[in-house]
Amino acid sequence: MRRNRGDGKEIGPCGGIKTGKTVRFGISADARLLEKFDGMIVEKGYANRSEAVRDLIRDQLVEFTWTQNYEEVVGTVTIVYNSESKELTEKLIELQHQNLVNIISSLHVHLDGRNCLEVLLIKGKGKKVKRISDRLIGTKGVKHGRLTLSTTGKEIY
Ligand code: NI
Repeated sequence: MRRNRGDGKEIGPCGGIKTGKTVRFGISADARLLEKFDGMIVEKGYANRSEAVRDLIRDQLVEFTWTQNYEEVVGTVTIVYNSESKELTEKLIELQHQNLVNIISSLHVHLDGRNCLEVLLIKGKGKKVKRISDRLIGTKGVKHGRLTLSTTGKEIY
């Protein structure tokens, strides 16, 4: 359903502004750089150069929000650990209970008789999400951990 705010901008079903004005702009670059870029976007299956450039802009904006501490961000933390250590599993559970407001979802997979994989979805201000992630990954006995940075999507178009 389309509603109008009265200023000409459409409102989407979730209440946000549905569309923005599209602006064309030109970029000057070394021909060799552009040739390499075009080769890459073909490999990656982009429909055109504009979509590839838009993705680069979005990626940089998302990365930038992680350096600020005023916008809410979303990250996924993947950890692999040996569940035979009771001290380690108790520590990981304790960390999750301490941060239940920020850890909005988790997935646990038993990889084999000993090893477990957990994916935790963390939402909050950039610094807070990074701090929780660092503590989870840095827990003694965690074999591997990685934080993937993403966005709530609110300010990305
Ligand atoms: Ni397990």
